[in-house]
Amino acid sequence: MSGIEDTCVLRARGLRKQYGREAGLVRAVDGVDLDVAAGQTLAVMGPSGCGKSTLLHLLGGLDRPTAGELFFGNRRVDQLSERALAPLRRHEIGFVFQAFPASRRAHRPRERRTAGPVGQIITTAGAPPGPPAP
Ligand SMILES: Nc1ncnc2c1ncn2[C@@H]1O[C@H](COP(=O)(O)OP(=O)(O)O)[C@@H](O)[C@H]1O
Ligand SMILES: [Mg+2]
Repeated sequence: MSGIEDTCVLRARGLRKQYGREAGLVRAVDGVDLDVAAGQTLAVMGPSGCGKSTLLHLLGGLDRPTAGELFFGNRRVDQLSERALAPLRRHEIGFVFQAFPASRRAHRPRERRTAGPVGQIITTAGAPPGPPAP
């Protein structure tokens, strides 16, 4: 029988990211628990400044959490060195940035069908048409 550990590709426990201190303390990500299964599509939604980008940067291994644990499959990755993170970033994690042509194309309703998961996410989130692709 396969448990959640077998199918879970990404797991976060108590993930936190804080900026600044004392009166200037910002809790950008404040104790996120998350399990993402293989093949699952997930949209992170919320108002500007609520921590979406910070969370995605943490989940993608681009930034380090202040506290908490992050696993890719069964490997704990939040404490890996830059050298150890490099092959993960190169081979196992993909990012489509907002400003990149692939995601800009996916904003066009006509092209969402062929834009794969990015188009589906944009459609699910109900985003308005973005700028024209170059
Ligand atoms: N490098 C940083 N230094 C200080 N504060 C930051 C930094 N990055 C983000 N923040 C703050 O963290 C909060 C979450 O930001 P962000 O993750 O960019 O939100 P979103 O992507 O949902 O708009 C905001 O209050 C933002 O000002
Ligand atoms: Mg953002």
